[in-house]
Amino acid sequence: MSATSALNVAKPLTLPCGVTVKNRFYKSAMNEALAGRDCAPAEEHVQLYHRWAMGGAGVLVTGNVMVDRTQLGEPGNVAVEDERDLNMLRRWAKAGTGDGTHCWMQINHPGRQSPATINPHPYAPSAGELDGDYARFFAPPRELTVTQIRDIVRRFATTAGIAKKAGFTGVEIHAAHGYLINQFLSPLDNRRTDEYGGSLENRARFLFEVVAAVREAVGPKFPVAVKINSSDAPIAATASAPEGAPAGFDEEESIWVIRRLDEMGVDLIDISGGTLEKPVIQTTTGAREDERRGVYFTEFAKRLKGVVRAPIALTGGFRSADDMETALNSGITQMIGIARPLVIMPGLPNRIIRNAWRGTVRLPWITTGIKALDKAFGGVLVISWFELQMNRIGQGRRPNPSIGGLRALLFAIRQHGFGALAPRRRKGHR
Ligand SMILES: Cc1cc2nc3c(=O)[nH]c(=O)nc-3n(C[C@H](O)[C@H](O)[C@H](O)COP(=O)(O)O)c2cc1C
Repeated sequence: MSATSALNVAKPLTLPCGVTVKNRFYKSAMNEALAGRDCAPAEEHVQLYHRWAMGGAGVLVTGNVMVDRTQLGEPGNVAVEDERDLNMLRRWAKAGTGDGTHCWMQINHPGRQSPATINPHPYAPSAGELDGDYARFFAPPRELTVTQIRDIVRRFATTAGIAKKAGFTGVEIHAAHGYLINQFLSPLDNRRTDEYGGSLENRARFLFEVVAAVREAVGPKFPVAVKINSSDAPIAATASAPEGAPAGFDEEESIWVIRRLDEMGVDLIDISGGTLEKPVIQTTTGAREDERRGVYFTEFAKRLKGVVRAPIALTGGFRSADDMETALNSGITQMIGIARPLVIMPGLPNRIIRNAWRGTVRLPWITTGIKALDKAFGGVLVISWFELQMNRIGQGRRPNPSIGGLRALLFAIRQHGFGALAPRRRKGHR
C-alpha cells in the first residue's frame, strides 16, 4: 500500500443501493451552459467530462439537466424529455464514466426561477409576482394544477430512465437553490391549500413523489441522490435572521425531510443551502470569500451526524486536502462535494491521491476592473467566468485563471445573447 492511499479521500464508499464508488471526491453539479437552442448535449460536454473523468474523482455530477425544454433555468441548459438525443447522451455518459468514474445526471425543473429572457411563462407552486430589483427579470409564474404537478413528477422519472439507458451511472434530484422542488418545500413560495401545501408533510410531498417515481424508473440498484438546502436562511447568519421575518424552509424542517429521504432509500444526500435571495456563491472575491466562510454548512452537517444511514456529500468551500481529511475524519461527511476548484484544476483528485499534493486551491477574484459593472453583474460574472473556463476545457484547451471578468461577460453575450446578463437567481418574493 502506498503512503498516499491511506488518505480518507482515497477510500472507496459503498452506497445503500450496493454500488461502490472508487473514492470520496464528489464533483458537484455545475451548469456547463454548453447546449445550444436545441438543448442537446454538445461535443464540448464529451471533452469536458472526459477531462474530469481522467482527473480522478469518484463521482461526477453533471450540470442540471431540465425535464422540460420550455422551462429552462439558465441559458445553455441541456433538457432531456425523450430519446431524441440518446446518441449524444451516450457519448457524454461514456466520457464521464472513463477510468472507473461514476457519472450521475443532475435532474431539475426551475419553477419560477426561470429568467423571462428564456421563459415568458414559468410555473410555480403558487402564483405571485416578485418584489424588489429583480422582479422585471422574471415573469410572474402561474400556479401549477395537480395534473401539471403529476406531469412534472412523471417527467423527472422519464429523464432518469433515459439517463440510465444512456449509460449514466446514477442520478441526482435537485431539491436545492430555489428551484421548483425547493419552492414546494419553502413556505415563502408555497402557499397552496391542497395536499401539496401547508404542513411540511404536504410541502415535501412533491419531492417524495419525485424520488419514488425516479426510483421506480431506475430500479433498486441504481444510485439516486438528492441535493437539498440545509435551510433557506442566510448562509452566514442562520441564527440572526431579522426578527419577524417570514420563516422559510429551516434546519429542523430540512432534517425531517432528510430523515424521510433516508427511509425511502436515497443513496446520498448532497448538502447545500442559501436563501433564494442569497445564492450559494455570494461574492466575486473567490479566495477572500473562502477564507471568511471556510467549508460551507459544516454546523448543519454536525447536526446530521449519525442521524441518517445515507452518506452525506457536504458541498462548498473545500479547497485543500487537509480540510477534506478533517471533514472525513470527523464523520460529518462521507463525500467531499467540490465544484469551482475542479474547473480551475480538473486533475485535483489525482494530484491529491497520487501525487500527495497538499496545496490550497485559491479561487480568483473575478472583476471587470470597473466597480459599477462588478456590482451590477456580480452573480452572473462569477457564473459566466466559470462557464467560459468549462467551455475552454470542452474545446481541449486548458483553463486560464488569468482571464478577466469583462471577457467573461462578453463571452456570455456571445454564447447566449444579452439575455445571458439577466440575473439567474431571483431576489425578493411575495
Ligand atoms: C458555474 C456554476 C454552475 C453551477 N451550476 C449548478 C447546478 O447546475 N446545479 C447545482 O446543484 N449547483 C450548481 N452550482 C453550485 C455548485 O454545485 C456548488 O454547490 C457551489 O459552487 C459551491 O461549491 P464550491 O465552493 O466547491 O464551488 C454551480 C456553481 C457554479 C460555479
